[in-house]
Amino acid sequence: MEFTVEAGGARRARTDCAIVGVHERSELGSAARELDVRLGGRLSRILKAGDFSGRSAETLLVPDLGPGPAARVLLVGLGPRKSWNRRSYRRAVLTAAQAVLRSGAREARLLLTTESVPEVDAYYRARLAIESFGLARYRVPDLKSSRKPSPARLAHVRVVAASKDELSAMKRGVLHGAAIASGSTLTRDLANLPANVCTPSYLGTVAKRLAREHRSIRVRVLAEPELKRLGMGSFLSVTRGTHEPARLIVMEYRGGRPGAAPVALVGKGVTFDSGGISLKDPGGMDEMKFDMTGAASVFGTLKALAALGSPINVVGIVPACENMPGGSATKPGDIVTSMSGQTIEVLNTDAEGRLILCDALTYSRRFKPSVVIDIATLTGACVVALGQHMSAVMSNTQTLADALLASGRRAGDPCWQMPLGEEYQEQLKSNFADFANVAGREGGAITAACFLWKFVDGLNWAHLDIAGTAYVSGANKGSTGRPVPLLVDFLLSRT
Ligand code: BES
Ligand code: MN
Ligand code: ZN
Repeated sequence: MEFTVEAGGARRARTDCAIVGVHERSELGSAARELDVRLGGRLSRILKAGDFSGRSAETLLVPDLGPGPAARVLLVGLGPRKSWNRRSYRRAVLTAAQAVLRSGAREARLLLTTESVPEVDAYYRARLAIESFGLARYRVPDLKSSRKPSPARLAHVRVVAASKDELSAMKRGVLHGAAIASGSTLTRDLANLPANVCTPSYLGTVAKRLAREHRSIRVRVLAEPELKRLGMGSFLSVTRGTHEPARLIVMEYRGGRPGAAPVALVGKGVTFDSGGISLKDPGGMDEMKFDMTGAASVFGTLKALAALGSPINVVGIVPACENMPGGSATKPGDIVTSMSGQTIEVLNTDAEGRLILCDALTYSRRFKPSVVIDIATLTGACVVALGQHMSAVMSNTQTLADALLASGRRAGDPCWQMPLGEEYQEQLKSNFADFANVAGREGGAITAACFLWKFVDGLNWAHLDIAGTAYVSGANKGSTGRPVPLLVDFLLSRT
């Protein structure tokens, strides 16, 4: 799909579908008012007749308008003016995108982007709009044997700027939005694949494909003998029960100055989490194929940066394995030695994410990173604490946490800070090893982060627990593509 930006004057040309907003209580937005005049009052008559009220996420397609400025008009409800904000703007663009993709329009003029939104500048209005079209257009890579529905006709979206002054910011927004959308799409595709397809070695081949597609990306995929040589006893303890070989995938994106310290992104890549010997309940266990979403978000983020050629160095580190029970699986009470030399008593084999991440965090030190961020579907406790709307962020560097919180807000991919603290760390005490891998139910998201904290001495580190935000359950089960928008925003803001 092609996206172009045009300024005020161009909106006179005829379009296949004009997309305009209407606030609740039937108040026409600025673009709608102008169009209404040119349509001889047609839109205000629709409102007067009570056929459209402007409720948030309401849409009405007015087809067959004959000759004139638009073949169709898509009215989109913007909700009450007093609660008009970034969230309702995004909701409006997303529902508009869904509706126009269902229509027969081949081309559309998006006038929603001319509405002013409190605290959202032209750049973000354009970027969030393009991301929404990406989300709306997404289809899960299903393996249904029935005929695939025919693809949407829409091929071209014209994004309208309110004035000439906004043109260049909007063009940048469109470019960044398209890159984020394609990155999120990769993340969603990988996360949605079943675990018998998306194995650790499959992720390795995807990384190599990324490197082929982008000369700025270099990839190394390490196999188990090398992990053993590196002393990654903690990572390797998780993969003992499965027949699928584990991988450590290292992707270097070099867009910045040679020698400039990179940002390291460490993504949890458990391609299936059965719990291991501490086997999970069967209900909903299929969703543990999403336990590699942290890894998938690293792939998506690097893809977006490479597409943009952003001037920054980023290294993506993905420990990938399956967590399965088996004759040689790690047992509760087993003690393992991490790459850092610290010993861990594995009291619960279902707390496996931290066991693979700790060795990957230690490995990240060789890149002398300016910042290390790990991304993981780490704890059910995080879902209990924050639900599905916000990821958790924990950090040993408050300025880093603040930057991530701000990026999440701006990108519409929010996170919320939770604390670290020695008192939580003390809950990990073990009689037999340096510490245990679990600390009881209470404060589970925090104690998990406090486990990782023991491995990042001297690093600027943040941890994102995306267990609640990575995917949705139920009828629309699937990956959300989060937190790619947050991560790309954070990295772009450092360029
Ligand atoms: N992958 C899970 C966390 C998870 C749970 C992600 C629900 C998404 C939805 C993780 O490996 C896990 O099993 N964590 C345990 C930790 C516990 C044993 C301390 C959990 O949250 O129950
Ligand atoms: Mn687990
Ligand atoms: Zn897990």
